[in-house]
Amino acid sequence: MSGGNIAIFASGAGSNARELIRHFRGHPRFRVSLVACNRPEAGVIGVAAEAGVPVLNLERERFFRGDGHLPDLMAASIDLIVLAGFLWKVPSALVKAFPDRILNIHPALLPAHGGKGMYGSHVHEAVIRGGDRHSGITIHLVDEQYDHGRTLFQARLDLMPNETPETLAQRIHVLEHRHFPTIVEAFLQNQTSC
Ligand code: GRF
Repeated sequence: MSGGNIAIFASGAGSNARELIRHFRGHPRFRVSLVACNRPEAGVIGVAAEAGVPVLNLERERFFRGDGHLPDLMAASIDLIVLAGFLWKVPSALVKAFPDRILNIHPALLPAHGGKGMYGSHVHEAVIRGGDRHSGITIHLVDEQYDHGRTLFQARLDLMPNETPETLAQRIHVLEHRHFPTIVEAFLQNQTSC
């Protein structure tokens, strides 16, 4: 990897995007250069606008059956893609164009509670329904299967008595905000130092 331009892909509120943008603001080597989003009404678009980060609106047809928006990513000289609550599966053309250069955060301890349909509150509901004693976060590389690539980092928490999907989501977000930016930075340091 030569440079340090990060594209965040997100579909939702964008609290992780906000933390990543904040973390890299003023960084001497790495910067969030782009926020790519597939939902025009998503909160993350406001987060990007407020921070002055350009937004790329992803079009379904183009993303899945066209050029995957690759020319847009090339034009922005993107080195690393970070999925932060991104609900579309990354097409294989994009995975191939960014080998070991796409990271994802999953709000549970993979390989438990991953795969198709396991996102947002579905994950937390499954953890509680399954009687798990722990949950946590997983930061991993993205390959062509859902929630499958090599794990880079996990942090765990103990479930509280009377835990609900809502309380768990909040506590998971705290963990995500604490760790995601520093793990992304460490990954970039590692990749660009050799
Ligand atoms: C996070 O919990 C992330 O792990 C999951 O979706 C949520 C996104 O939250 N994949 P936000 O949009 O960053 O607030």
